[in-house]
Amino acid sequence: MSSTSDPRAARAPYEPPTILRHEPQMMNKFSRAAAMRPETHIDGVAVDELIARHGSPLFVFSERTLVERYRELRDALALRWPRVRLAWSYKTNYLDGICRVFHREGAWAEVVSDFEYAKAVRLGVPREHIHFNGPWKPEAALEEALRGGSLVHLDHFDELVAAERIAERLELRPQVLLRLSLAIDGVPAWARFGFDLESGQARDAVDRIVAGGRLRLGGLHCHIGTFINDVEPYRQAAAKVARFARELREQLDISVEVLDLGGGFASHNTLKEQYLPGQFTPSLGRYAEAITEGLAELDLPLQERPTLALEAGRALVDDAGYLLTTVVANKRLPDGRRGVILDAGVNLLPTAWWYRHDVVPAQPQHGLPEPTVLFGPLCMNIDVLRDTMLLPPLRTGDRLLFHHVGAYNVTQWMQFITYRPAVVLVGRDGRHGLLRRREDLATVTAPEEIPGWL
Ligand SMILES: Cc1ncc(COP(=O)(O)O)c(C=O)c1O
Repeated sequence: MSSTSDPRAARAPYEPPTILRHEPQMMNKFSRAAAMRPETHIDGVAVDELIARHGSPLFVFSERTLVERYRELRDALALRWPRVRLAWSYKTNYLDGICRVFHREGAWAEVVSDFEYAKAVRLGVPREHIHFNGPWKPEAALEEALRGGSLVHLDHFDELVAAERIAERLELRPQVLLRLSLAIDGVPAWARFGFDLESGQARDAVDRIVAGGRLRLGGLHCHIGTFINDVEPYRQAAAKVARFARELREQLDISVEVLDLGGGFASHNTLKEQYLPGQFTPSLGRYAEAITEGLAELDLPLQERPTLALEAGRALVDDAGYLLTTVVANKRLPDGRRGVILDAGVNLLPTAWWYRHDVVPAQPQHGLPEPTVLFGPLCMNIDVLRDTMLLPPLRTGDRLLFHHVGAYNVTQWMQFITYRPAVVLVGRDGRHGLLRRREDLATVTAPEEIPGWL
């Protein structure tokens, strides 16, 4: 987090209290603007220094937060279950340096494509420590994963048949996991992934695996959604998966080695439909508690319980990520609101469509806060990073810091009309180093060709 050791902050001039007209859709009832403290540093490193070195806009990650969140989840699970495993969800953020931080802490990899699989192998993750998910695993990647002893999560019958065919060709009997699709109260069903439990499709898949004799059922998996800021759905999901595992044990004598409950835990971000920032983000301990309590349905003594695996992404990386931006212009909109143009747009921050990110100035600000729209620099009407928030006057060159942006942005960002910025890691000892260089004309045009006849 930031430090407010800036000596100017100590001498901030007196600001009289202000009364603002209530604006619908805004949180001025709680006077957030008045309480807005500048964040001049990230983990002790000055924002000004980071921008001077690497330019603006700039993504910054806190190694301290990454490690703290990882250890918090790992410890919360280990306290409650005899064998636990965290597999880092590559799609959430697959920058090498971010993956390295989690692998150094002991995380396995959870990948959903041939590209991510190759990236994990390139980073030195043993193939047998890779969970391979997703609705499409190209034949070559599926073969490599089955041959290498990775944990392949079967998603549908066509994939099951393909896995059997490959196993026969390789003369192997590889272990596979079955992804289950569950109906959970209060959570929109992600029914398109996995084998439906309630309709009996999942049981049909197990029967088919047993009858085929080519594959070995090593585990069950579910992933019920993302940013689920309630722990009860996890208790229910864990109980359903556990009851199914018990059914397989009692009826088919199959003892699965791993139960993977996926990810989906909330970060301290704020969905647009939430009123208060960071509201209702349960602690990682409460998720762990709900899951392990649900798993009691297994009805197994401690030493016989399967490994509990999780693939949390967002909850481990979102809070560690910042986007530093610079004000390039101010303007007055016809409805009276102030518009501020920043040097970073929605192409860099696609999560701005769904989340009301925390935004704070990176230098002390003075003057009356007023309703402000934060625009990006794209020549597109949809380029809005925050639709309306109370902000004090901002000058050209001032910096704004967006927080809780570590998940899904540096994997889903788009190169559009300009270069994607650098990404930096701030270490736990005040060091900082590049995770990804800023793009330039050469990197963007490198894959382009001009057909010979032009
Ligand atoms: C199969 C699977 N596992 C794990 C994750 C990580 O989810 P989250 O970032 O919400 O924790 C996802 C993301 O959608 C996923 O599809």
